[in-house]
Amino acid sequence: MRTPLIIANWKLHKTIRESLAFVNKFISIIGKVYNRDIVLCPPFTAIYQVGKELSGTTVKLGAQNLFYEEKGAYTGEVSAEMLKEAGCSYVIIGHSERRKYFLETDKIINAKIKKAESYGLIPIICIGEKAEEKDSGKTREVVGRQMKEALRDFTSTQLEKFVLAYEPIWAIGTGKVETPEQTNEVIGYLRNLLSSLYGYSVASKVRFLYGGSVKPENSTSLLSQKEVDGLLVGGASLEPDSFASICKV
Ligand code: 13P
Repeated sequence: MRTPLIIANWKLHKTIRESLAFVNKFISIIGKVYNRDIVLCPPFTAIYQVGKELSGTTVKLGAQNLFYEEKGAYTGEVSAEMLKEAGCSYVIIGHSERRKYFLETDKIINAKIKKAESYGLIPIICIGEKAEEKDSGKTREVVGRQMKEALRDFTSTQLEKFVLAYEPIWAIGTGKVETPEQTNEVIGYLRNLLSSLYGYSVASKVRFLYGGSVKPENSTSLLSQKEVDGLLVGGASLEPDSFASICKV
């Protein structure tokens, strides 16, 4: 059985003070949760202190990005080792906003996943199609290729712990949500593809999330789909009340 996983991606939001205020209120609402995994991904500046605040709770810490090199002259970058030491257990990799604004390619994303894996960080690998790709019937082709490229060179055993997040780009921050049935269909396709490449045992362990305009109102129907193991939440994760109600579904 796959444990449900709900992740907050705060993107470029929240100072340290705002992050800590969120954590205090969120923990007081949610308490200890044992039947699902909850992960907060603050901006880099707040990661360490949020992690300290979360100690003793069941909520885990993640980052929104990392660099694929260990160390060196890479001004502005953050390594896997730095994230691990700061308390992270997860890291989002290949978000469509990074692909778009920071020109991340499938090759760069694959290198980042390799670095994350080598430090025991669980990668949350984001894939998703653009509106025009969906309209021209290319969703499966696009997300299938992104998934295969992201997972290049990994063994089945390494993949078991990975998380894949299907985030249709046209659904991010737009209020437009993929229907639960369509989401289930796309994720089912990806899981079958994973099974054909790496075997059923791995495909049945990998967690697939949906992301894109998730709100308390639509989270129940999304999570009730057989293939949907969790949610990656942007805007609705910024308020403790709305994120807690999604986590409680
Ligand atoms: P929204 O929930 O704001 O649409 O963002 C989704 C997302 O990009 C999460 O990674």
